[in-house]
Amino acid sequence: MPTLLHIDSSPLPGSVSRELTAEFARTWKAAHPDGEVIYRDLAAHPPTPIDEKWIGAAHTAPGELSAEQRAALALSDELIGELERADEYVIGVAMHNFSIPAVLKLWIDQIVRRGRTFAYSAKGPRGFLQDKKATIVVASGGVYAPGTPAAAMNFIDPYLKTIFEFLGVTDVKFIAAEGTARMMSGAIDRCTFLKPVVEQVRAAAA
Ligand SMILES: Cc1cc2nc3c(=O)[nH]c(=O)nc-3n(C[C@H](O)[C@H](O)[C@H](O)COP(=O)(O)O)c2cc1C
Repeated sequence: MPTLLHIDSSPLPGSVSRELTAEFARTWKAAHPDGEVIYRDLAAHPPTPIDEKWIGAAHTAPGELSAEQRAALALSDELIGELERADEYVIGVAMHNFSIPAVLKLWIDQIVRRGRTFAYSAKGPRGFLQDKKATIVVASGGVYAPGTPAAAMNFIDPYLKTIFEFLGVTDVKFIAAEGTARMMSGAIDRCTFLKPVVEQVRAAAA
């Protein structure tokens, strides 16, 4: 059964990235009627920050883990399990201070785990999430398209591309809903603003 992992990270209900990932999931479900959608709302349920116990447990051989160490890794196991089960991911990202929302960084820290999602070999790092596809929908108040004055201030796309490729996901597509500030100021209405981005989202999900 094909499986989609749908993740939101914007703290705002009805936000642009949330509307677009929901549209992606709807289109994907229509194309895969027998498919399963796993939904994770990181803003509603923020992952815990990794700490000393987590790091110690993550660097302990699985067979030697104490009950306490297993508990420290339980959320990481659950989140990695979702990534392993799904064939495809859609991730909604709100630009916060030129980067990703803090809850998405907490999630990344839980899922980048040596021996579970990547390993180092003589040939360098190798990611275990093979044959997966990721679509990342980024909403930002400003415009950061290549060639624009602020392009170098978009730390989201290069960072997430690096993380997913490190984990083995080489098919990573970014869809930008940029310039939402124009919508907030009333310079453009929501429907007109969203229309071209919704078309890109539908094409990516179909
Ligand atoms: C705390 C905060 C920080 C933000 N930082 C930026 C920023 O650095 N650059 C930018 O272009 N927009 C910034 N914005 C605007 C958001 O990116 C914009 O509202 C976007 O639509 C958020 O996505 P969402 O609608 O999915 O929540 C910020 C908004 C908030 C609330």
